[in-house]
Amino acid sequence: MLQGKKIVLGITGSIAAYKSCLIIRQLIKKGAEVQVVITPSGKEFITPITLSALTSKPVISEFFSQRDGTWHSHVDLGLWADAMLIAPATAATIGKMANGIADNMLITTYLSMKAPVFVAPAMDLDMYAHPSTQQNLKTLQSYGNYIIEPGTGFLASKLEGKGRMEEPENIVAFLEKALSSASFSEEKTKSCVRQSLTGKKVLITAGPTYEKIDPVRFIGNYSSGKMGFSLAEECARRGAQVELVCGPVSSSMQITSPRIHRIDVESAREMHEACLSLYPSMDTAILCAAVADFAPETIASQKIKRTGDGMLIRLKPNPDIAASLGQIKGKHQTLVGFALETHDEENHAQDKLKRKNFDFIVLNSLNDEGAGFRTDTNKISIISRSGKVDFPLKTKQEVAKDIIDQIESLHA
Ligand code: PMT
Repeated sequence: MLQGKKIVLGITGSIAAYKSCLIIRQLIKKGAEVQVVITPSGKEFITPITLSALTSKPVISEFFSQRDGTWHSHVDLGLWADAMLIAPATAATIGKMANGIADNMLITTYLSMKAPVFVAPAMDLDMYAHPSTQQNLKTLQSYGNYIIEPGTGFLASKLEGKGRMEEPENIVAFLEKALSSASFSEEKTKSCVRQSLTGKKVLITAGPTYEKIDPVRFIGNYSSGKMGFSLAEECARRGAQVELVCGPVSSSMQITSPRIHRIDVESAREMHEACLSLYPSMDTAILCAAVADFAPETIASQKIKRTGDGMLIRLKPNPDIAASLGQIKGKHQTLVGFALETHDEENHAQDKLKRKNFDFIVLNSLNDEGAGFRTDTNKISIISRSGKVDFPLKTKQEVAKDIIDQIESLHA
């Protein structure tokens, strides 16, 4: 629900402007208060009378509403709002936002906004695909704004079918999910602070992998995904765009930040494929998944029946995702790994640090109570080429903060 949320809805000059009525209706139905700010060309497509009837508030368009010296304060609006949604957003408005061209009330409101800003582009495909528009969208995203597009809610990697504004119900659902997430309420209170990972792209692996034996059985492990999900949420909270590649985790494991794009995989091979295609465009990868090192050589097409005294399953090695990324790691990329050990912990971690070309490795041991699989806590040591730092037992959220602090210190 959006009960009590204050939303500034920016409307610009697009044929999709009529859809803003549907957005307003849904926002209000969910309990939000809506203040419309419309550009001069927006008024060519939809009348302020309709909009003010729907919102029960006068529509703001000009700096000065009358000739008596009273004026609309974009600064006050920036402080009042819990979110600003610009839908539809034309190429012109997106360009002005990206470059700070404050020539109308909507852009000045955007520049004064202390709350998260969501942008739903609307234009024809040629305009959308133009490198200028794409660059402006990337710029907006790097400033911490959210681009809502049909499908993912992320800036599209493919252009087909793009440009058209996302459907009103999906825009409202995206906003609702975002505003109800914990990372967001925190974000509003600190929106004046530039977020340290804004503009950065982080790949995170989480959870176990399942290696099929037959249609009903697999080889797996106890990873719950908690550590990897905490890392993803922490990176998103600091402003990064996160690609979270996760193995089969329980349905209770849900992401809350709209900056996280989740890709579900099952086997080590699927995880390897997803990571290899994503890593070249990432700044950092944190490999927290517990990946099976071996998979059955053959997968039975039917359930294996019990016969005789026992059976042997021949295993073949899986690809080593970390080692593959370590080989293609670019000069400006960071690669962080984990080591889950049961004995001779530090030596094994040191060996993996070098062999997989990590910048540092996070060691957790099953010998420490409250550490490792499934728990809400973890106890880690961070090992790099320059030494080892031990941390006490903490929640996985706190551990994630320590790990991301360490990544940030590499680039300080
Ligand atoms: O998910 P939780 O229940 O919260 O538990 C968290 C965790 C214990 C799974 C996590 O903290 C952790 O330690 N993850 C790594 C577990 C592991 O499999 O470590 P490893 O020592 O086998 O692998 C070393 C590194 O290589 C890891 O970064 C791993 O992701 C990576 N790897 C391993 C094998 C493989 N084929 N490809 C890989 O990329």
